[in-house]
Amino acid sequence: MVLYFTSTGNSKFIANKIAKDLNKDLISLNDIFKNNKNWEFHSTSPFILVSPIYAWRLPKKLENFLKTAKFNGNNEIYILVTMGKDCGLTQKYCKKIIENRNMILKGFEAINMPDNYFIGSTMNSKEKSIEEIKQVIPKIDNIKNLISENKSFFQNKYNKNDWFLSSIGNWGFNTFMANSKSFKVSNKCTKCKKCINNCPVNNITLENEKIKFNNNCIFCLGCLHKCPVQAIDYKGNIEKNGQYIFPKELEI
Ligand SMILES: Cc1cc2nc3c(=O)[nH]c(=O)nc-3n(C[C@H](O)[C@H](O)[C@H](O)COP(=O)(O)O)c2cc1C
Repeated sequence: MVLYFTSTGNSKFIANKIAKDLNKDLISLNDIFKNNKNWEFHSTSPFILVSPIYAWRLPKKLENFLKTAKFNGNNEIYILVTMGKDCGLTQKYCKKIIENRNMILKGFEAINMPDNYFIGSTMNSKEKSIEEIKQVIPKIDNIKNLISENKSFFQNKYNKNDWFLSSIGNWGFNTFMANSKSFKVSNKCTKCKKCINNCPVNNITLENEKIKFNNNCIFCLGCLHKCPVQAIDYKGNIEKNGQYIFPKELEI
């Protein structure tokens, strides 16, 4: 069983590819979270979780999921993360969570995909995104083969400042940044409700004909990237750095 969370489609692409090629069930955690479905799963083979990296760790929502979801039938899990550049000590944090619940982290891999963290960096052109995604396909195929042979694989290189980034950096992000207080909706908004329908945690509502952000934001930035008229902004960054849109040409 492949479980995935995604904001802009990178993790979905990898989850889809692995599930299809290995003939596994594919479960969208966006759907599970959005529709308040049960966090209980059953698989006779190891579970596979695919998630983006937020601030050098799994998103907080995903860490909570990993700590509390019920995984029946098999006690092994592979974790694959997609990232722009650097996942810090995510593997260590995942291992600790998994071992605390008497499960086995069977494998961990971080896969470079186009960065969707648009705060302070320019988003790729469509051509560059296609090129970057095509480059990682051999790596995904290799992971898929290892999983099909029931083999383990782990990241064995860390950088000097990873400890700082995944602990204090991640704490700062979750404490001060991971909310929608600074999101602004311009008058370009057509009230198409795409942001409302896509938000995985139902944080966006339409009140008095205005888009309203509530207090449950996980800062996945999907609403900003997916807005068809670029009406949602975070401190001027969307205009300056653009949106990341997963290339349609590569959708599975
Ligand atoms: C809030 C936020 C924080 C992020 N932090 C990191 C990070 O610490 N390191 C990194 O390499 N990429 C980071 N990224 C980039 C994403 O992990 C990356 O683009 C990922 O592939 C997006 O996956 P998705 O399209 O499935 O949502 C961040 C993205 C967001 C939205």
